[in-house]
Amino acid sequence: MRIDFPITLNRSIETESPHAVPLNVAESYDGTNVVFRALRLATWGPTLLNLGYYTFGGSLSVLNVMSNMELAQQRLVRKSIDLLQVSPGDQVLDVACGRGKSSFMVQALHPQTTVIGIDLLDRNVQVARTLFDQVGSLSYRVGNAMDLDFPDASFDRVMCLEAAFHFPDRQRFLRESARVLRPGGRLVIVDFAWNSDAERIHRDDPETRIVREIWQWSDFSSIPEYERMGRTAGFRLLSSRDWSQHVTRPIQTLFERLSALGRTSWGRRILAWINPLYRSFSTQDWEQVALAVRGHEHVRRFSKYMAFIFEKR
Ligand SMILES: C[S@@+](CC[C@H](N)C(=O)[O-])C[C@H]1O[C@@H](n2cnc3c(N)ncnc32)[C@H](O)[C@@H]1O
Repeated sequence: MRIDFPITLNRSIETESPHAVPLNVAESYDGTNVVFRALRLATWGPTLLNLGYYTFGGSLSVLNVMSNMELAQQRLVRKSIDLLQVSPGDQVLDVACGRGKSSFMVQALHPQTTVIGIDLLDRNVQVARTLFDQVGSLSYRVGNAMDLDFPDASFDRVMCLEAAFHFPDRQRFLRESARVLRPGGRLVIVDFAWNSDAERIHRDDPETRIVREIWQWSDFSSIPEYERMGRTAGFRLLSSRDWSQHVTRPIQTLFERLSALGRTSWGRRILAWINPLYRSFSTQDWEQVALAVRGHEHVRRFSKYMAFIFEKR
C-alpha cells in the first residue's frame, strides 16, 4: 500500500551534488523533529548522539532503551573501540565525534594514546571542549570528514561512528582516511548501509524520504559498495559486522510501542506516568511519530546497521 506522507521535504536532501554540503546536519540534532525530541526524553543526547547497542531485544528492549539508553550508547562506542585494536602510543582520530564522549572514551580506555576528535558542528566541539578537553592528550577541532586537515600518515587509527550516512561523498572520506593513516593503520566505520546495490532503488520511496528528512542524508552506500570504495581508496576490508539486531531493531521496537501508546488518551496517561516529560508531546507530534515509525521500518527492510573494519594497504 502506498503511504501518502503529509510533510514538506526540506530541499537540502534533494541535492545530487556530492561536493556541496547543503544537508542541514544541525537540524538532525537540534530538536526540530519529534524523533530527536522523543530520544531526548529517553536520556539520549547530552554527550553521545548514537543509537546505542542493546544486548537483549524483543519487548523488553523497550525498558532497556527507556531506562538505559546512555549505557547502551557507551556500549556501542566500546564495541567500536574494541574493533580499532588500539595499541599504546597510537595516534587516534575520531571523525564526527559529536559532543566528544567517544574520543574521551578512547583516551580513558587507552591512556597512552593521543586522541583528536573532529566534528562539523562548532556547537558540538564547544560542548566536547567544555566537558572533556582537560584530559591528557585529548583535543577537539571543528573539521570536515571529507577534507581532513592533517598531514599524510599522521594517524594509526581512525574511527567514524554513526556519522558517514551524513557525508555527501563517502568515497572522498575513505580517500582522506587512507591518506592520514599510516600503512597498516586501521579504520573502523559504523554506518547504515543498503543490503545490496539493487536496494538503493528505495532511496526515493516516500517512506524513505521522511527518514532522510529526519536524519539529513542524501543516500546510503550499499554493503558491497563499502568494500569497493575501501579498495579504491587503498584499504583492505578485514571484516564487517551486522549489528542491526542490537541497534536499529530495539530502537524500532521502542518507537513502535511509544507510537501505539501516544495514539490513545489512556496510552498518553501511561507515558506521562512513566515520564512526565512526555506531556510536552501534542496529538500532532504523535501523528508525526507514527509516520516516522512507518518510514524507519521501511528503510530497515532494505538496509543494515554495519561495522566495517578496514586496514590501510
Ligand atoms: C549521529 S551523530 C554521532 C556522533 C558521535 N560519533 C557519537 O557516537 O556520539 C553524527 C555526527 O556527525 C557529524 N557530522 C556530520 N557530517 C559531518 C562531516 N562532514 N564532517 C564531520 N562531522 C560530521 C554531526 O555533526 C554529528 O555530530
